[in-house]
Amino acid sequence: MAQVLLENLTKTFPEKGGPGVTAVKRITLAIEDREFMVLVGPSGCGKSTTLRMIAGLEEISEGTVRIGGTIVNDVLPKDRDIAMVFQNYALYPHMTVYENMAFGLKLRKFPKADIDLRVREAATMLGLESYLGRKPKALSGGQRQRVALGRAIVRKPKVFLFDEPLSNLDAKMRVSTRTEISKLHARLGATMIYVTHDQVEAMTMGDRICVMKDGNIMQVAEPLELYNHPDNLFVAGFIGSPPMNFFRGSLRRAAGHVSFVEDNPAAPLTVALDEKLAARSSAYLDKAVVFGIRPEAIHDSLTMGSAGGGPTAEVRVEVSEPMGSETLLYLDTGKTSFIARVNPTDRFDAGQRVQVTFDLTHAHLFDPATEQVLR
Ligand SMILES: Nc1ncnc2c1ncn2[C@@H]1O[C@H](COP(=O)(O)OP(=O)(O)OP(=O)(O)O)[C@@H](O)[C@H]1O
Ligand SMILES: [Mg+2]
Repeated sequence: MAQVLLENLTKTFPEKGGPGVTAVKRITLAIEDREFMVLVGPSGCGKSTTLRMIAGLEEISEGTVRIGGTIVNDVLPKDRDIAMVFQNYALYPHMTVYENMAFGLKLRKFPKADIDLRVREAATMLGLESYLGRKPKALSGGQRQRVALGRAIVRKPKVFLFDEPLSNLDAKMRVSTRTEISKLHARLGATMIYVTHDQVEAMTMGDRICVMKDGNIMQVAEPLELYNHPDNLFVAGFIGSPPMNFFRGSLRRAAGHVSFVEDNPAAPLTVALDEKLAARSSAYLDKAVVFGIRPEAIHDSLTMGSAGGGPTAEVRVEVSEPMGSETLLYLDTGKTSFIARVNPTDRFDAGQRVQVTFDLTHAHLFDPATEQVLR
């Protein structure tokens, strides 16, 4: 098994009559032996390009890829000891499940008995034993994706690379296959690098998550660390659904207290900061800041008693969305729309005014210019 080390990894695609498109910009990332690392970010941020450079399917413009300590920039894909599973897994339609899984090993001239052992072992792991004689067209989408996984597993590679392997599956199948891949990771003890733009997959599968934007790494951390302590506005807004609420405004001192005051001449939302936030932001008095707070850290008046103290404000209810397990309240300060995740038994009508409390232990302040969190 192996560590994968990316150092200053860069990819520039040539462009007719232009300087080229730099899809990956000097990224440095260490993926530890046996780690499950998720690369996540919006479309076009460079996830697939990064993965393809690790696999050897894309030439590296600058920087290095090391697998198990060895620089592999000039090593052919087939000699890198990796297996890649794509979104479009393209099984051979005329071959059975067994033959599809055995094919790569056959090409590599593995002994027949060894192939048989590996295919049967992988089939057991994936619950495909009773489908070995079937052709792909007689399988469900999820079963086909498991065969594609099986094809990778039988190779027993040092490193597994996944590029959105679940995006062709329906919602239910995605959840079960997701769990399956997590179990496989625990069982195989292999290093896995998994690309997705789905932040729920990222949160539930990753040992660590690497958030990318425009070819850059924005933050690398364990899922809950990323959720609770985002480094910047991008990560704060990308991880979490519904996303973190942001209010633009500035910090003011009045009556010995520092408050966030929204940019809103009519009736600005004013939030008195606790000591911790005030200490972090002492250099920003009378300056512009962004106040960020997650929907679950905003409580309505009906549950306020149990939620404890915290600054309050009166705002308008735009829409109330009962989800069953929770209710999403779409609120408005007159300037900023925001969302609170509240108790499903709390009923509100559109247009009603409601008193809300902010739990500041889950609030953040950001510099609007650098977009970095204040700490
Ligand atoms: N062969 C190519 N030639 C020129 N530009 C390319 C090429 N392949 C990718 N790009 C560009 O590089 C950037 C990164 O692409 P990449 O496929 O890595 O994104 P991604 O993060 O995987 O996105 P998605 O979530 O949509 O799959 C994009 O702007 C894309 O247009
Ligand atoms: Mg991609």
